[in-house]
Amino acid sequence: MNKIIDQISEYVKEAFVSAGYDEKYGRVTVSNRPDLCQYQCNGAMPAAKEYKKAPIMIAGAVADELKKESAFSYVEAVNPGFININLSDEYIADYINKMSSDERCGCDKTDNPVKIVIDYGGPNVAKPLHVGHLRSAIIGESVKRINRFVGNEVVGDVHLGDWGLQMGLIITELKKRQPDLVYFDENYEGEYPSKPPFTIAELEDIYPTANAYAKEHPEFKEEAKNATFLMQNNNKGYIALWKHILNVSIADLKKNYEKLNVSFEKWGKESDAQQYIPDMVKYMKDEGYAYISEGALVVDVKEPDDTKEVPPCMILKSDGATLYNTTDLATIVERRKNENPDMIIYVADKRQSLYFEQVFRCAKKTKIIDPDTNLLFLGFGTMNGKDGKPFKTRDGGVMRLEQLLTEINDAVYKKVTDNKEIEDTLAHEIADKVSIAAVKYGDLSNQASKDYIFDIERFSSFEGNTGPYILYTIVRIKSILAKLDGKAQDITILPAASDTEKDLMLKLTKYNEVIFNACEESAPHKICQYIYELSDVFNKFYHDNRIISEEDDNRRNSWIKLLMLTQKVLETCIDLLGFEAPDRM
Ligand code: ARG
Repeated sequence: MNKIIDQISEYVKEAFVSAGYDEKYGRVTVSNRPDLCQYQCNGAMPAAKEYKKAPIMIAGAVADELKKESAFSYVEAVNPGFININLSDEYIADYINKMSSDERCGCDKTDNPVKIVIDYGGPNVAKPLHVGHLRSAIIGESVKRINRFVGNEVVGDVHLGDWGLQMGLIITELKKRQPDLVYFDENYEGEYPSKPPFTIAELEDIYPTANAYAKEHPEFKEEAKNATFLMQNNNKGYIALWKHILNVSIADLKKNYEKLNVSFEKWGKESDAQQYIPDMVKYMKDEGYAYISEGALVVDVKEPDDTKEVPPCMILKSDGATLYNTTDLATIVERRKNENPDMIIYVADKRQSLYFEQVFRCAKKTKIIDPDTNLLFLGFGTMNGKDGKPFKTRDGGVMRLEQLLTEINDAVYKKVTDNKEIEDTLAHEIADKVSIAAVKYGDLSNQASKDYIFDIERFSSFEGNTGPYILYTIVRIKSILAKLDGKAQDITILPAASDTEKDLMLKLTKYNEVIFNACEESAPHKICQYIYELSDVFNKFYHDNRIISEEDDNRRNSWIKLLMLTQKVLETCIDLLGFEAPDRM
């Protein structure tokens, strides 16, 4: 279905033409004075320059044409040359009926689907997930779902950090704890055990211990670096350990992501890209892109109109070691070979933005990626505590994701059970859904690049601009429909009978535009804003009308249909944000 704003613009363009002016002036926008009108066209002002006439004369002539259209209930030219427009109730109802009878509520798929790899999550193996990884998971999952809904082909890649120093630290710490393990015996010839020599709980203890110890003991850190080097160079025992670490870790990560309603099509790893590095480095050298500077191999990526300093992209350190950059570049080579995407979206902390700028420029300059491939960095801000500083546990430690989710779940559970008779399993089911909505909406309702304050109380409130408020609205609709037992299949929705009903309908008509806009701008917060407004107008409509006791069958059935449409739009939107509504709250 066409966006309603495009449909209205069509009328206004025709009116410009009928009045003797160019159609390009007929573009309509949503009114910035909703108290005066619903839509407006400001085209008479620029047209006045071209036609050397007073804008109000042009606006008046166009308005006269538009007044002939039954689509509009009110058209007026106002000084200095605005055209104010209201849609007729019939026209709105007609659009709403088309939405209601369409499977996708009027949001068609794109005509030009593209293939996208979204690199999000980015957890590091064996390090517990912390809140920093929360944002990547939440935002990436939503951007993926939005793109998929719009018809793009999307692969979500978790891009595990499994190749860095943390592996060497774990191996070294393990050697200290269990020196007799066969993995450390250089002369061992047999098969390595299939059972890992640690549990996830042990693994989660090993890394932080090793990390803290390495800070105080340089010789331990050296050993860990060496272990990393050996692992990266195929030491049999270390590779066997690396596999164990990976397996134990991935199983745990999957469990955690599942709780968040986040899933990946691809469990790609930094290590997967290593095989592409030698050829890539050779190619960059042979083609003259990479050169030695102070011992390191680098590619210049600065551009003439840079306003800030963009340092060269380092490909190899002076000791020949590869870096985070090298892996990301090689991953581009790998993705080009495997997925050949039109676009790669990276969802990571915005403090990595210069880093990604360097990587993208290097990839384009060296032509390891097609010039048409769109590389997009979606950088997110920091999640802060109420003190405005990065979110921490009460005793100042790094807040683990699991702990954070438990805390918010407890808070919601308390609300759900407070002064209420409710069966305990049900209460937990509800608390699970509502708490995920609280966390995700709390995050996604902010523009991704902004920092925000994580506030359990506010996020879990059932009122205001929160996830639970949206769920509450959906639950309310479900319960009304259950009472009316929802039989209104062949009914048409009648033109609005009140202003609140009209406001609800008008908000619904914006649906497809909002979704496409959120997709184009990789901006889930636009969907949040929309469903908040939609919930608000719905609740006003609800308070204004006695839906259940309405005696006129046609009116009541029309409302049932309107409610069903509202529910579907809201539920599709929250699905695109990555959460779902319970049946009651
Ligand atoms: N593992 C990294 C971290 O924890 C994030 C990875 C982001 N993605 C990427 N392709 N570099 O900071």
